[in-house]
Amino acid sequence: MSLIFAANFKTNHTRSSTTEYLKKFDSFLEERSEKGYIFPPATALTESVSNITVGTQNAYPARNGSFTGEIGLEQLEEFGCKTVLIGHSERRHVMEESLKQIKEKYAFYKSEGYEIFFCVGEPLEVKEQGTQAVMDYIAEQFDDIDLTYDKLVIAYEPVWAIGTGKSATTEDISDIHARIKKLSDKPLLYGGSVKTANIKEIAKIDNVDGVLVGTASWNVDDFCAMIEEAAS
Ligand code: PGA
Repeated sequence: MSLIFAANFKTNHTRSSTTEYLKKFDSFLEERSEKGYIFPPATALTESVSNITVGTQNAYPARNGSFTGEIGLEQLEEFGCKTVLIGHSERRHVMEESLKQIKEKYAFYKSEGYEIFFCVGEPLEVKEQGTQAVMDYIAEQFDDIDLTYDKLVIAYEPVWAIGTGKSATTEDISDIHARIKKLSDKPLLYGGSVKTANIKEIAKIDNVDGVLVGTASWNVDDFCAMIEEAAS
């Protein structure tokens, strides 16, 4: 099975630059007979194209209603969007989304049949307490999350590795991924400072089914180069 490559734009790119990005990325994937994912900001949501599934970085667990600043099911359906990112560390730690809110989102979008990219990962102070502490932390993030859901994709993203340029070591990734795989057999991505310089090493690790990439995905040529590098 080929690796899953997913680009998380975060608060980068506009509607027009996303259109350009999609065009380039889609023709790159077409040539290679591969598929990919992008998660643009909500303002740049657009229909998926032949080789790229477009997902949303966030959504409120409601069809519609009075939730100022949020988007719900009705808005996603207009774009045929059926993929959602839930539990990203920036939602958890910057926007202070609670475990309860995250569970509600998961339950709602699961009941609507969405493909869910569910992110887990520990902050530095937990990592420093050792592997058992990391797994306890992740177990709490998984509490009430149906890990048998057939449209679930899990992303292990240690918080201290996101946007810092400092990826987890091969040993860390290998160890934590093996442990998460014992909890769920769903596709498991690694995320956190994945870039062209380390993709080859990461792609070779057992139980890494793909990568969720932020910073190094924002330039389409760099992202394509990373995918080429992974396969080389
Ligand atoms: P990064 O972000 O690649 O910039 O570390 C990864 C992510 O947040 O998914």
